[in-house]
Amino acid sequence: MTLQELQQEHTASIAALEAAQSLEALDALRVKYLGRNGLLPGLVKQMKDVPAADRPAFGKELGAWRGEFEAQLNAKTAALQANETPTAGFDVSLPGRWHAEGVIHPVSRVIEETAEIFHRLGFTVADGPDIETKFNNFTALNTAPHHPSMDPSDTFWFDVETVLRTQTSPVQIRTMLDNPPPVRIINPGRCYRRDTTDATHSANFHQIEGLYVDVKPVSLADLKSTLAYFAREMMGPDIGVRFRPHFFPFTEPSVEVDFTCHVCKGKGCRVCKNSGWIEIAGAGMVDPRVYKHVGYDPDAVYGYAFGMGVERIAMIKYGIPDIRFLYENDIRFLSQLG
Ligand code: PHE
Repeated sequence: MTLQELQQEHTASIAALEAAQSLEALDALRVKYLGRNGLLPGLVKQMKDVPAADRPAFGKELGAWRGEFEAQLNAKTAALQANETPTAGFDVSLPGRWHAEGVIHPVSRVIEETAEIFHRLGFTVADGPDIETKFNNFTALNTAPHHPSMDPSDTFWFDVETVLRTQTSPVQIRTMLDNPPPVRIINPGRCYRRDTTDATHSANFHQIEGLYVDVKPVSLADLKSTLAYFAREMMGPDIGVRFRPHFFPFTEPSVEVDFTCHVCKGKGCRVCKNSGWIEIAGAGMVDPRVYKHVGYDPDAVYGYAFGMGVERIAMIKYGIPDIRFLYENDIRFLSQLG
């Protein structure tokens, strides 16, 4: 082989490497040129037959060929391997992908926190259905037969005996019908009223009912201290509680419960309409007539009940100006509370 032929073989081998499209093709070229019986080792063996004067030039060309061939082979192998791996085209310097994370809805948060707080006081969580009997929602709660709250303009009736509950108070009835005293429960749940939706009203809202009935004396003072404890735990240590006389058919005496406005701490502001107080709940001592409906002896038990508005607590706690924000589930709103 002449030096010129050697150089032609060199060029051809590099062109073959460039044309190779697979790792198998590269391996075949490696065997062809560098293998035990390959072209380059064969040529090295033939060096002894080359005239002594031409040997240095032959040797130099062979060395250069081998060096270039090996370098090209390695580079091409690495390139083809990169294409075959699953991370092909993966740019580790790119920023990570963003995933929207959910947050717990403020209504759920208030319910969960309330359950925790009352759990510390020995209350367990009771449950009841959204669809109730007239007896549980009205009659057993001592509601007069033609009380305006039963009017179809206020209450969703399925038929004359069945309603979408207008309050969580029917769970009081269920609890007492199923359990002898003492009972100490809270019940969070949905309520339904034929209200027109505005900034503070919704036809579907949530209440948390509370009921404590015992065979030893329970007083209005116990009710107040319990709700005051709840208020401080939920809203912060400076929150005060006041009772205003009110009327509910199923409690006597009855009160409406206000918390000091957490925004102005009672000084008066826009949120509390300058009164310094915000109405949170209805409450009172369980009316003896209710005990009769559930088979409790009114002379042998003592108890209180309360019903709190969940949305109201959420709006105060998180500074939400319009109840509708709580139902739209706009993630831009919810994530601010996360
Ligand atoms: N159920 C009453 C309401 O919806 C609240 C309440 C509950 C009042 C328990 C007294 C006792 O307004």
